[in-house]
Amino acid sequence: MSGPRIHVDPSTFEPWRIQALTHDLGSHPLLQLDSLIELGKRQQGRKLVRTHNAAATAGTSFADAPNLHPNRKTAAEMLADIGQANAWMSLLNVQADPVYRRFIDEILDELQPIIESKDPGMSYRAGWIFVTSPGAVTPFHIDHEHNFILQIRGKKRLYTWDPFDREVVSERALELFHDEHSRELVTWKEAHRQRAKIFDLVPGMGGYMPSTAGHMVENGDEPSITISFTYYTASTRDNEMLYRGNAALRRLGLTPKPIGQSASRDALKTAVLSGYTTVMSAVRKVRGRGVRDNTVPYAPA
Ligand SMILES: [Fe+2]
Repeated sequence: MSGPRIHVDPSTFEPWRIQALTHDLGSHPLLQLDSLIELGKRQQGRKLVRTHNAAATAGTSFADAPNLHPNRKTAAEMLADIGQANAWMSLLNVQADPVYRRFIDEILDELQPIIESKDPGMSYRAGWIFVTSPGAVTPFHIDHEHNFILQIRGKKRLYTWDPFDREVVSERALELFHDEHSRELVTWKEAHRQRAKIFDLVPGMGGYMPSTAGHMVENGDEPSITISFTYYTASTRDNEMLYRGNAALRRLGLTPKPIGQSASRDALKTAVLSGYTTVMSAVRKVRGRGVRDNTVPYAPA
């Protein structure tokens, strides 16, 4: 094997900057239709399938799309007839599947030296496979993870927004997202399109999207298969903690300074909050309450 199968230039890779990339995964046996149909059946059994029909638009609530625009087909039925299914489907957390977990590890292990040199502390590895009918749309949203997204089959237009563009995703929207896992304030406006970095993805192409970079996808006029490899790092975990800290300050009636404006202020807040978070996690454990551990190697499914 000669080098990572996702091609990222180590000299230009920046963990918080969107960038284009190419890859060699189009002919991988685990990404062909027959393997995906079998995976779809297994993921259906694990209840790790998310789907909606092609009536969803850029402005549809990402959280509510499956209920607002239901797709009744099973994963296997849809995969067998993507062209006519008129639907959008994601096989979620495919790292729950032992075969696909090995595949995700192989690909992220290849990239890890490049990532680690600028963005150490990889955790919460996960994989997501998106299967979309012609014309289907993924509504505008943000995610917690850093994301390598690769086009395997068909064409799609991927709109992405700089994670620091506060015209598109406000400081308050990020606080609510990190603090309560709510995307309620991450809302679509047609004017966002002008501020987007757009990728017209075809097989062999892809993009890197940092944590909390807004994105929206319009599928082309043929069936599409896309895979995402995602993870957290120390910087995404610190960023989440900073926003949760600001959300707490706002609850106290204060107006916290935005994150990212002053490295020294953010570093001080991080130091204070890490101590506080460690104590609070210990208290929650003692009280028998769950603590979401975002340092574990794989995202829990
Ligand atoms: Fe996403």
